[in-house]
Amino acid sequence: MSPHDLPISLPDYARAATQVLDANACAYFDGGAGDEATLAENGNAWRALRLVPRVLRQLAGGSTRCRLLGRDLRHPILLAPVAYQRLAHPDGEIASACAASAQGAGIVLSSQASVPLETVAAAIGDDRDRGPLWFQLYLQHDDGFNRELVQRVECAGFDALVLTVDAPCSGVRDRERRAEFRLPEGVAAVNLAGLPPRPPAPADNALCGGLLRHAPCWDDVSRLAGWTRLPLILKGILHPADARRAIEHGAAGVVVSNHGGRVLDTAIATAHALPAIAEVLDRRIAVLVDGGIRRGTDVVKALALGADAVMIGRPQVHGLAVAGAQGVAHVIRLLRDELEVAMALCGCATIAEIDTDVLARGLP
Ligand code: FNR
Ligand code: LAC
Repeated sequence: MSPHDLPISLPDYARAATQVLDANACAYFDGGAGDEATLAENGNAWRALRLVPRVLRQLAGGSTRCRLLGRDLRHPILLAPVAYQRLAHPDGEIASACAASAQGAGIVLSSQASVPLETVAAAIGDDRDRGPLWFQLYLQHDDGFNRELVQRVECAGFDALVLTVDAPCSGVRDRERRAEFRLPEGVAAVNLAGLPPRPPAPADNALCGGLLRHAPCWDDVSRLAGWTRLPLILKGILHPADARRAIEHGAAGVVVSNHGGRVLDTAIATAHALPAIAEVLDRRIAVLVDGGIRRGTDVVKALALGADAVMIGRPQVHGLAVAGAQGVAHVIRLLRDELEVAMALCGCATIAEIDTDVLARGLP
């Protein structure tokens, strides 16, 4: 695809992706849980916040540069973990990772990636200008397997572990059920190959007696922190009390997230959850946020409400589906460029200058 034919914004990419993805893949990537109230509200909540720009301030010498977990970044945008990306494009996570690396964006590789984690790490190498490379972990029912996986992640050169804590089970996803979603031949969670089968659950109590018997608890967070030298980030925090517990259990950061509205429908929008969490954490550990971030103005608002960085989930898949690595790189570039414009128009030369002063109070 020639650069002239590419979409010009993240919402345009979302529309273009529906033209190239089949119904099965669309249901998986774009769907949410239940009535998709949280999915819709994630985006609406950012858009409903109103900016109050400052004028005539010095903008010369400004930039989107920032720091996250001790590392200098070209901008505060990361790719959220999204499973099974080879469903969107044959190059899958390799394309996303290379695109992110070229654009200086951080990458969080899903536990359910469809490409070996070592291949992804090798593809981006140790380019000094790349963003951080993190691995997202779903703790499995077998501790030996978990420890081995963490060791592989460390050996491959990942910079941090992101433990997802908001999905002890999958949400009820109507779009997937209607489409009778299934993974096509050749797309699988290859990094989980070799996981021993889960012990059988009592027939009358399949969820709590089976899957949830092995769902991680706070004690497991401390145990995990003890196994690894990598910083540990908890993804899926929405309650300020849980943010406080994250610090107590040794987390180096949290991701304020409702899993893109894919698990608990009617869960609070992340724009609404973020301020109380940022206040409790008071910059002691890193705060990231995701869910519905599609515009540079959304990123400004997230940073104003106390986030250090943002992550995008579906938009990377839309870029991948439309134009492979080039599409993902373009999506990141569009968002970064929009962020720069939004900062300039708000009168903020640097990321550090973005604070609640740019947000209208008491609205909507
Ligand atoms: C996800 N998400 C996710 N999260 C996670 O921790 N591990 C995973 O494997 C996945 N897989 C996944 C697949 C798909 C198709 C989507 C859309 C999302 C959640 C993801 O990391 C992130 O929290 C949301 O996608 C953010 O919302 P937006 O940007 O998609 O609105
Ligand atoms: C999802 C899982 C893989 O949201 O996290 O589909």
